[in-house]
Amino acid sequence: MKGVFVVKPLLPHNTIVLCGFMGCGKTTIGNMLANALGYHFADTDEMLISETGKSIAQIFAESGESHFRDLEHQVVQKAASLSHCVISTGGGVMTFERNALLLAQHATIVHIHRSFDDCYAAIRERTNRPLSGSKSREELLSLYESRFVSYEKYAHYTLANNSSAQAAAARLSDLILSRKI
Ligand code: S3P
Repeated sequence: MKGVFVVKPLLPHNTIVLCGFMGCGKTTIGNMLANALGYHFADTDEMLISETGKSIAQIFAESGESHFRDLEHQVVQKAASLSHCVISTGGGVMTFERNALLLAQHATIVHIHRSFDDCYAAIRERTNRPLSGSKSREELLSLYESRFVSYEKYAHYTLANNSSAQAAAARLSDLILSRKI
């Protein structure tokens, strides 16, 4: 049974929101899940990039993280109105209550849980994440631990990504199609 803060979505399963730490596989699993369900796929980072015409690194560098979080919230407001969609969220989205409460009312929230070591390995392969680029392994571990609490607080379901993205996506689509979550 998930936490007491869970808000039941108005239209269960019409929209699935994937949350979790950077490198947990949200985008890869989300694309596969959308294909399996015949849903659209959206990614809050990509929505933000296409709306601003700037990369996330550019926004952080030019205007700072707090401005990025305001833009991200505007994108979340748009994402919350989508239906028949799998939405992958940036790793910080669910750590802000204004985003989490909105999404939890409109979608089924799934926390993609992957070990820190696996997330860290995936993060290290990419250079376009301003937040991770500026932090040491120890700082990222402490961020991972504190964010875990926010993800779990709002998730309706936690999915372990501990073998392959294909296996995780298949398990999630089975659970959704059989209405177990
Ligand atoms: C962030 C995660 C990134 C992106 C931005 C901030 C975070 O998305 O939104 O760099 O605060 O964890 P991914 O989780 O897709 O890497």
